[in-house]
Amino acid sequence: MFALENVSHDFGEGPVLTGITVRLAERRIGILGANGSGKSTFARLLNGLVVPREGTVSAFGRSTRSDGKAVRRDVGFVFQNPDSQIVMPTLEEDIAFGLKNLGLPPAEVTSRIEAELNRYDLAAHRSRPVHTLSGGQKQLAALIGVLAMRPRAIVLDEPTTLLDHRNRKRLLAVLAGLEQQVIMVTHDLEALAGFDRVLVFEEGRLFADAAPEDAIARYRALID
Ligand SMILES: Nc1ncnc2c1ncn2[C@@H]1O[C@H](COP(=O)(O)OP(=O)(O)O)[C@@H](O)[C@H]1O
Ligand SMILES: [Mg+2]
Repeated sequence: MFALENVSHDFGEGPVLTGITVRLAERRIGILGANGSGKSTFARLLNGLVVPREGTVSAFGRSTRSDGKAVRRDVGFVFQNPDSQIVMPTLEEDIAFGLKNLGLPPAEVTSRIEAELNRYDLAAHRSRPVHTLSGGQKQLAALIGVLAMRPRAIVLDEPTTLLDHRNRKRLLAVLAGLEQQVIMVTHDLEALAGFDRVLVFEEGRLFADAAPEDAIARYRALID
């Protein structure tokens, strides 16, 4: 559950997002737009990785400007490239790192690692050096590192872009099974099947905001 009020942002070189007011309450929300249209910046606003120059962003009732740390506990973020996400040498240590940061007791850290590795069939890879995992395993690992923290919402920035067909299907199946709110930036139009709502960005503005079929049609008309 997110609320953006009159949000504008720039990085010092012209507007990146302009005048965005939107509430995001649906369980599955997709974000489309051409390269450079502001999708990643929008995604990063949602968990306070970026605080807007103007306007306010809140997640589950908390402002990202004044309460960023609490927001990041509620809102997990999955980067396009898992190498930006995985900070520890092994899968197990990486998941533990996030959980320890939450201040969880060691027994809880251990039991959550077990639960997540088993649920996603990665237990056999727990102590393998992360750099030896395949791209698909790494992306899944990045996702479960976030899921282990049990956020209330998950924001993903083009999570399937680097994956082959099989791993893409697997990741989408994992996402489909989640109870949490999912907000996914993507160029993968088929991945939006079954979503509740899709936002389309164009040059930093909200160009369309509709059910997937309508939004995708407007996006196609825009880029063709
Ligand atoms: N950290 C940053 N510093 C400077 N410019 C940035 C930064 N992040 C994004 N931009 C610029 O903002 C615009 C929108 O970028 P982005 O949000 O990444 O769009 P998208 O994800 O849709 O490709 C681009 O012109 C990009 O160069
Ligand atoms: Mg992007």
